[in-house]
Amino acid sequence: MADIQVLVGSTYGNASQIAEDCTEQLSRLGHNAVLLSTPTYEQVVAHSGVLLICTATIGQGEIPANLMPLYCQLKDRSPDFSYIRFGLIALGDSSYESFAEGGKQMNELMYDLGAKPVGQALFIDSCETPDPDEAAAEWIDEWAAKL
Ligand SMILES: Cc1cc2nc3c(=O)[nH]c(=O)nc-3n(C[C@H](O)[C@H](O)[C@H](O)COP(=O)(O)O)c2cc1C
Repeated sequence: MADIQVLVGSTYGNASQIAEDCTEQLSRLGHNAVLLSTPTYEQVVAHSGVLLICTATIGQGEIPANLMPLYCQLKDRSPDFSYIRFGLIALGDSSYESFAEGGKQMNELMYDLGAKPVGQALFIDSCETPDPDEAAAEWIDEWAAKL
């Protein structure tokens, strides 16, 4: 079973709620999952397991403020993440010009740092997905089976 840090990027609570539910689901599946609501650089680089990033987008295609410091520090310091596996859930709204750009930026950064993706990222468009919780839960079942 995997050691999983769940990293949250959320302004209004949607991504936080989904991340919390995913953490509980992963724990029920037997994984050691820990939710980080305001993830720090030190916490993340000290971890050698799996990362699950669950982030919304704010402003005009920006990463939420609680995740932004981590994003900037990872980008600046460029740690070697070749030993890290990751998954990503991105919440967004396609009526905005930059759909789920926050999630896309985190995804790209993980690749740049050498982290290995576990399956495909999940993009949840609030315009098209009536039940984001259900979409995330189904995705987690498939994702966890690949760990
Ligand atoms: C002020 C504001 C700006 C937003 N900007 C974007 C955006 O640029 N791109 C996008 O895909 N979604 C955007 N969204 C939609 C949010 O990402 C979406 O509502 C998400 O579920 C919010 O998650 P949160 O409650 O965790 O913050 C925006 C929402 C708000 C309220």
